[in-house]
Amino acid sequence: MDKNKKAMSSLEEAIACPVCQKTLTTAPSDCNQCQNYFRQEVTKMPLAPVDLTPAQVKDGVDVVNFQPLRTELFRLPIISFLYERILPPIWAMGLRNRGGMDTEFQQCIEFFGQNLGTVADISCGTGIFARRLALLQQCQQIIALDYSETMLGQLQQQMQRDGILPSQITIIRGDITALPFAPNSLDAVYSGAAIHCWPDATTGVRNIYQALSSGGKLFATTFLQPLPSIIFRFFTADELQQIAITAGFHPDCVQVETRGVYGTLKCIK
Ligand SMILES: C[S@@+](CC[C@H](N)C(=O)[O-])C[C@H]1O[C@@H](n2cnc3c(N)ncnc32)[C@H](O)[C@@H]1O
Repeated sequence: MDKNKKAMSSLEEAIACPVCQKTLTTAPSDCNQCQNYFRQEVTKMPLAPVDLTPAQVKDGVDVVNFQPLRTELFRLPIISFLYERILPPIWAMGLRNRGGMDTEFQQCIEFFGQNLGTVADISCGTGIFARRLALLQQCQQIIALDYSETMLGQLQQQMQRDGILPSQITIIRGDITALPFAPNSLDAVYSGAAIHCWPDATTGVRNIYQALSSGGKLFATTFLQPLPSIIFRFFTADELQQIAITAGFHPDCVQVETRGVYGTLKCIK
């Protein structure tokens, strides 16, 4: 099998309907749950972004459409526009690791190790991580998923600016509470500065745990208490560790590192 066909088949095996969890190969050709929305939508991949949020797939039936402010906020065009134009220099001053995204990317790549297969940047925002990964050219498949369509719009614009082809990153609008991935289908997941924005942290980490293959790795970062949980939901380092264990990771395979109000969660399935 040539390299492109192999990559496409691993993508087809990884992407699943967020409602029935079936992949393109296992979903019925006349699905009465989504009226074939899933099948039709995934044919656009990887060249165009796809919308696999449960509400879109199931057209609102039996699906909770309400999301908390900490999720909805990022859909505002002004937030998406300003996000990457304002924050990276502030992070680099020490708010997000010592050295900002450069350090975080290096730490994550070291943790993931060699032979990267299918890697997902979940809650990718403008894709700061996914784009770096694409430029590294060491992954078989890169998936960038976020709930905010406006953040994903910024990602597409940045890809053009960086000279990254649409085929190099599969862009999915998806919801952490019902991820569109088949069980055991991802080799590694990065989720940067996002846990505090999710509707429910344990559900989110559990969904990632289920999507990871055996030996698969999660590298996630988040801001921590004592930042006050007014809009976002900040945890302590101990709570973060407990969330990962409750989500399914073995306690020996969960590590939390903190630096001020910034925490890094490293887990191996
Ligand atoms: C602070 S930004 C982090 C963006 C990027 N990962 C980074 O490292 O800069 C948090 C992201 O989480 C996303 N998010 C919030 N709720 C989500 C949900 N329910 N499902 C998926 N992504 C969500 C937001 O849209 C936003 O892009």
